[in-house]
Amino acid sequence: MARKLAAGNWKMNGTVINLPQIAEIAGLAVEDGPEVLICPPAPMISRAADAARGTQLAIGGQDCHVAEKGAHTGDIAAEMLRDAGATYVILGHSERRTDHGETSALVLAKAQAAQRAGLTPIVCVGETFEERQAGLTLEVVRIQLASSIPATDAPLVVAYEPVWAIGTGLVPTSEQIAEVHADMRARLALIDGVKTADVPLLYGGSVNAENAATVFAVPEVDGALVGGASLKPADFAAIVAALSAS
Ligand code: PGA
Repeated sequence: MARKLAAGNWKMNGTVINLPQIAEIAGLAVEDGPEVLICPPAPMISRAADAARGTQLAIGGQDCHVAEKGAHTGDIAAEMLRDAGATYVILGHSERRTDHGETSALVLAKAQAAQRAGLTPIVCVGETFEERQAGLTLEVVRIQLASSIPATDAPLVVAYEPVWAIGTGLVPTSEQIAEVHADMRARLALIDGVKTADVPLLYGGSVNAENAATVFAVPEVDGALVGGASLKPADFAAIVAALSAS
C-alpha cells in the first residue's frame, strides 16, 4: 500500500525569515505517521534541508531540468536539487505548464532525469474548467498520465490537481475526486514497470484545514499537495492530523 504523503508547495514564497516555519512543520513529521514534505523555492532548499536535518521532514524542489548539467542559464539539474538536500521534486505543475509552456513530453523527460538522480518525482495532472465542462476530464488525465509517467518501478508520486481548483477555493465533489483517482490507479497499472499500488496518489487544489478530512475520506486518495495552506503551519498541521486520522 502507498505511504500517505502531505506535501506543501510553497511556490514562489519564502526567504530566510520563513525558516522557523520549516522547523515548526518538521515537528509534524513522525516515524509512524504520514510522510511530510515541504517544497520551498530553490534558493531556500539547502537552508530548509539544514533546518530539517535530524527530523523526518522531507524537502523537495518545484521543477528540474532534463539535463545533468550544461549551458542552460537559470535552470536547475535534478542532481543539484539532490545535492542541496531535496529528495522529491514537483513536476508538470499546471503553473509550469501555463507559465513556461511545459508539455507532457517535457514532463516525462524531467521525471526520468529526477529518477536518475534519485529524486522522487511528483507528477501533476489535471483538467481545466473547460475540459471538465466538456466531459473530457478522464480523457485529459489519461493522456497526461500515459505521456508523462516514466515506464519504470522507480519511486513516483502522482498528484491530481484540477486546474480550476488551484488557488480558487473551489474543490471537486468527493465523487468527482473518487472517479479520477480510481481511474488513475487503473491507468498507472498499464504503464510498464509502475507498481501502481505503491504510488501515492495525491489530490491538490484548495485543500485546507476545514476540507482535508473530507478529501482524505475519498477512496484512493493517499494525501494532498497543498499550496496556500502549507504556508501557515497551524493549517498545515491540521491537514497532517487529518491525514494521520484517515
Ligand atoms: P492551493 O495550490 O492549495 O493553493 O490551491 C495547490 C497547488 O498548486 O499545488
